[in-house]
Amino acid sequence: MSATAAPAIRARKGDGNPLVMVTAYDTPSARIADDAGVDIILVGDSVAMVVLGYEDTLSVTIDDMVHHTAAVARAKPKAMVVADMPWMSYHVSREETVRNAARLLRAGASAVKVEGGHKRLDAIGAILDAEIPVMGHLGLTPQSVHMMGGFKVQAKEFDAARVLLDDALALSEAGCFSIVLECVPDAVATTVTEAVPVPTIGIGAGASCDGQVLVFHDLLGLNGGRPPKFVRRYADLRADATAAVAQFADDVRSGQYPSEAETYHFAEGTPVPGLYQAASA
Ligand code: KIV
Repeated sequence: MSATAAPAIRARKGDGNPLVMVTAYDTPSARIADDAGVDIILVGDSVAMVVLGYEDTLSVTIDDMVHHTAAVARAKPKAMVVADMPWMSYHVSREETVRNAARLLRAGASAVKVEGGHKRLDAIGAILDAEIPVMGHLGLTPQSVHMMGGFKVQAKEFDAARVLLDDALALSEAGCFSIVLECVPDAVATTVTEAVPVPTIGIGAGASCDGQVLVFHDLLGLNGGRPPKFVRRYADLRADATAAVAQFADDVRSGQYPSEAETYHFAEGTPVPGLYQAASA
């Protein structure tokens, strides 16, 4: 279990100290995020697109999420570890939902994240009844990509914004300890943030949320390509990594790697045995 728990995150509402969440999917990335001092590490189902090469998040399974959550937990971070419930892991029955959420907790998460509003209240209630904290997720919910017709900014019109606000109120009343708002106009995020008593964590939702989240590979520039408008790249690690591997290839091909210092030797004076002689000869 991570050192930071849901009540501590919930208590950060309105304290003027924005929450910082970043995704991680394995032990080294979790160590980096934790050493950098983030509050929450999200084992996002974005692992599907960012690490596993899928077109959307629908292909990852609960087994995949358990595997990646356990890898993150092995970093023993001080930050809270939240794991995404993947698509179809909380849509079938209350029993299956609770069992799947419990697997993520046993893998080392302290809470799970669930996408959706009113439609998911029953699943969220079941998870909370099992004493498992739940983070909500509204706006662009990637598991609904086919219903939404693509990865698009949501709640751009008054009626949709009202539905989102109602959903956010319902999630906080149900007991979610925080809510992610993804890709919504800043005015919608501001209204929701003022209306709900739990922290909102924005991604493409403007500056008024109680915290911000970015995907690890996006903020480090690990995957290349043109990122969405809200991504700020703090490094260009793809270029750095490509240059480093190319340098290694050059060094091998030109005989400059390995050097003497990078090679094991017998201690001085040790007779070099004829390695291909039979031991008994
Ligand atoms: O899976 C994920 O990375 C997420 C964040 C974008 C919030 O849900």
